[in-house]
Amino acid sequence: MKLPDIVILDEKDKRLHTVSDEVTFPLSKQDREMIHDMLLYLKMSQIEEERAKYDLRAGMGLSAVQLGVLKRIFVVVDEYEEGKFKNYVVINPKIKSFSEELIYVGEGEGCLSVNRETTGIVPRHARMTVEAQDENGKTYEIRVREDISIAFQHEIDHLNGILFTDRIDPKNPFKNADKMREI
Ligand code: NI
Repeated sequence: MKLPDIVILDEKDKRLHTVSDEVTFPLSKQDREMIHDMLLYLKMSQIEEERAKYDLRAGMGLSAVQLGVLKRIFVVVDEYEEGKFKNYVVINPKIKSFSEELIYVGEGEGCLSVNRETTGIVPRHARMTVEAQDENGKTYEIRVREDISIAFQHEIDHLNGILFTDRIDPKNPFKNADKMREI
């Protein structure tokens, strides 16, 4: 596989704290190519040989803003079975409903734009229903849970200019851990 030629912005870049714009259809050829590149990059980052070959960090989600494109587009790639990947292309997402139950990633969330060790946890809804559009502008509704639900919330935050580190209380980075379920 050939690694897509993309540059992921670092958290110091102010664009990552900007609210992205709604997307209109049809998508430009450029945007379609960007989505393709983002999906391929994430997939390759999850394949050990490719990760080693290109010195990548494993990532599950990526938003257009992380490539400097301020549009409400994100992708998630989930290896649901050894060597099998499911792609999510999510454009103009709206959260329709979410569970009261909160969960968090025990080892802490990661982000391809945050290139340092972080301490702390982020409360996330265990389940959500999201309405969004696909790359053809077709509206769909999706129910997500557990790690996919966390990935969607992390990426929707990106579209609103929020990084996961913004959601960690530096004075109490493990606040309310006892009230949530660790995954
Ligand atoms: Ni991120």
